[in-house]
Amino acid sequence: MSSALFSPFALRKLTLANRIVVSPMCQYSAVDGCASDWHTVHWGQLLQSNAGLFTIEATAVSATGRITYGCLGLYDDACEAAIRERLAIARANAPSVPVAIQLAHAGRKGSSHVPWEGGQLIPLDHGGWSPVAPSPIALVANEAAPVALDVAGMVEIKHQFVDAAWRAERLGLDAIELHLAHGYLLNQFLSPLANHRTDFYGGSFDNRVRFPLEVFAAVRHAWPQHKPLGVRISATDWVEGGWTIDDSIVLAKRLHAAGCDWIDVSSGGISPQQKIPLGPGYQVPLARALRAATPMPTMAVGLITGAAQAEDIVASGDADLVALARAMLWDPRWPWHAAAELGAQIHAPRQYWRSAPRDAASVIAHAKVGAR
Ligand SMILES: Cc1cc2nc3c(=O)[nH]c(=O)nc-3n(C[C@H](O)[C@H](O)[C@H](O)COP(=O)(O)O)c2cc1C
Repeated sequence: MSSALFSPFALRKLTLANRIVVSPMCQYSAVDGCASDWHTVHWGQLLQSNAGLFTIEATAVSATGRITYGCLGLYDDACEAAIRERLAIARANAPSVPVAIQLAHAGRKGSSHVPWEGGQLIPLDHGGWSPVAPSPIALVANEAAPVALDVAGMVEIKHQFVDAAWRAERLGLDAIELHLAHGYLLNQFLSPLANHRTDFYGGSFDNRVRFPLEVFAAVRHAWPQHKPLGVRISATDWVEGGWTIDDSIVLAKRLHAAGCDWIDVSSGGISPQQKIPLGPGYQVPLARALRAATPMPTMAVGLITGAAQAEDIVASGDADLVALARAMLWDPRWPWHAAAELGAQIHAPRQYWRSAPRDAASVIAHAKVGAR
């Protein structure tokens, strides 16, 4: 019986060997936006998973677009050089795994402490910076409000996304995912909870989607035509009066028409009032709704932890791809173990060919890829 999870999937000229995606995960371990030794190790071990696609964490398009001082950036030559150097080492033993980067701007969530120091806003007089947003509305009531962007500031940010896309191309990255989710800047434009603008970029649905679509179009234009470009969205705010799955469906259709190659279906992050019905695969119904209503390839994410669960999501047509975050940190060779459970095969570096237990001996494909 062949596995749907271990079947290939094409995104433009890029073919993923299987449907498993390593979800973007901030590591808060960069220095002045530059990747560190931690990234070499982290990327190296997750690339050994031989997932179909590995996604580099939310990577800021400007220094003030970072969430924290530890966030990765791709906004100057030093950041670019650091990724080049670290990734070359990390990819050396998994050259066949494509690498995507998630480009992001934190908006009003910028200037925050790293999570393990509490995650709250760092005020200006404590060494923080002034975050920007569509409207001067603080995420948390007792925190300072962000600075509302004027149109010149928005144009500058659009150019920063384009500049980061050029740098990603120079780095030889295979795909870009734009971060429109989790309450960060582009999500702030989409949601009526964070966007109270009265100009061309706020108010109606058409106005709220305008800036994210402009950024998407500019990056699509800058990024080579043969390379895929996707987006991650928060398909619902999980708040009464906020962004809904119906809004997401209309946005997905417009993104598809603009040349978007996948929609990565997450949710929430825009408001502390959110009520998220957490449970296994809790965001899969959102992916299913988007896949049913639009022609867009869909990625499901969120508490997908088991091989049979992931197989079922792809085989049943709920989503084309599954992204895993925490399960991949817990078990960096999750795809090997899933392949063993599902009777599929996966590539592994030859140094580890002898690792499989006797009852899973056939799981590792002994081809001369993924090793040197
Ligand atoms: C340590 C950590 C860092 C994360 N950083 C990002 C990020 O950079 N970009 C993003 O879109 N989501 C980020 N997320 C969310 C994950 O990509 C994923 O959507 C979420 O954890 C749900 O999937 P899971 O249940 O497989 O962990 C992060 C999650 C974790 C645990």
